[in-house]
Amino acid sequence: MCKYIIDGGKRLNGEIEIEGSKNAILPILAAAIINRDVSVIHNCPALRDVLLMIEIMRELGCKVDFDGETAVIDSSCMNSYEISRKNALEMRSSIIFLGPVLSRMGKITISHPGGCELGPRPVDLHLKALRMLGAEIYDICNGLIYAKADNLKGCEIQLDYPSVGATENIMIAAVLSEGETVIRNAAKEPEIVDLQNFLNAMGAEIKGAGSGIIYINGNGRDKNSLHDVEYTVIPDRIVAGTYMAAAAITGGDVVLKNVITDHIAPVISALKESGTQFFTYDDSIRVKGPEKLAAIEIIRTLPYPGFPTDMQAQLVSVMSVADGTGIMIETVFESRYKHVDELVKMGANIKVDGRIAVIRGVKALKGADVTARDLRGGAALIVAGLKAEGCTIVNDSKHIERGYVNIEKKLASVGANIVKMQ
Ligand code: UD1
Repeated sequence: MCKYIIDGGKRLNGEIEIEGSKNAILPILAAAIINRDVSVIHNCPALRDVLLMIEIMRELGCKVDFDGETAVIDSSCMNSYEISRKNALEMRSSIIFLGPVLSRMGKITISHPGGCELGPRPVDLHLKALRMLGAEIYDICNGLIYAKADNLKGCEIQLDYPSVGATENIMIAAVLSEGETVIRNAAKEPEIVDLQNFLNAMGAEIKGAGSGIIYINGNGRDKNSLHDVEYTVIPDRIVAGTYMAAAAITGGDVVLKNVITDHIAPVISALKESGTQFFTYDDSIRVKGPEKLAAIEIIRTLPYPGFPTDMQAQLVSVMSVADGTGIMIETVFESRYKHVDELVKMGANIKVDGRIAVIRGVKALKGADVTARDLRGGAALIVAGLKAEGCTIVNDSKHIERGYVNIEKKLASVGANIVKMQ
């Protein structure tokens, strides 16, 4: 089992380049199959989830070249609508192929992604919306979803919750539908805006992403209306936020390059409360942690532009060594505190009751043998290990590799004592 070994207590100092956004590239890759042409996508992070997406695209018949930075996808030769159970179950995000494959091929079979480390992960909103667009969807036994639609027809869709994945599936499917689709209570995340920009760059007509109401003028599968596209993905706001937490907790002084500050404003605001200072430049930001972190009174995770659930775990690590008590309320996912038991092994004082965690800051964390149970929870253990006295071993690094490119190398380049062991 791969692991990270950290000798904590070093202040971070230097520069870190932030990679392209995982949550932006995944739907963009899936969307690249609808233009029947070539998509060139830059700033594509070399992550396990990206490689899995590429494997699925090849399974569907697309030609994909990826050099670790730029992906070139030729979807003209796509000839399958079936995604193997093995690939679908390997990553929850495979559900993002539902809208693109259905609208391009008129049918799809894919396994239900099932639950995951964060608790149940239903796709009811995705299915309900695609049914409204005219798809017939059969949730067959053994978790297999079969959907077909000769012609999708644009309509008004009111989402019960601003689901990121459902919004993306509807946007992509609606591009090849007849007439206008309006998504109300749509997710507003920056990755939704990036998807709109990518689809528009290949000839789609979408507006409103980021506002909560998205208008898609469908082309009714007109083969000539979409074309080849070259696009650069936005930087990863959660990766940037994680390195901000690492700089803050170690009392470090780190410049993060390739950052869109607005995208990570709620995290900056919370860390400012802890005494962390920020200095913003064009596309970079300097993060200067305090000698002693002040308590952050309360953080509530929410859909964008609220505080991101994907930064909850890393901020719990920061709060665990602050001077006083803080409260975290997780409103987005049912079961997202698996990192807490591991932090407690390191000496943290955290009590969880349902969606609420009460974090009483301790004077010091102590290195321990801990295990990453999910992606962001694993990153939080690295953040804690950077501060802890002595040696921390974070087992099961594969979770963390899903979302961070060379995290150990980037942290080591700013002075952390961290290595990855195979
Ligand atoms: C995306 C992000 C993930 C982030 C999450 C919330 C990607 C690849 N992943 O996940 O990193 O943590 O947004 O910001 O972009 N829900 C339903 N029914 C549905 C769909 C969702 O009940 O059909 C619920 C989920 O169980 C969850 C909440 O809605 O409680 C938010 O989920 P959603 O916004 O869909 O997250 P993802 O798109 O899966």
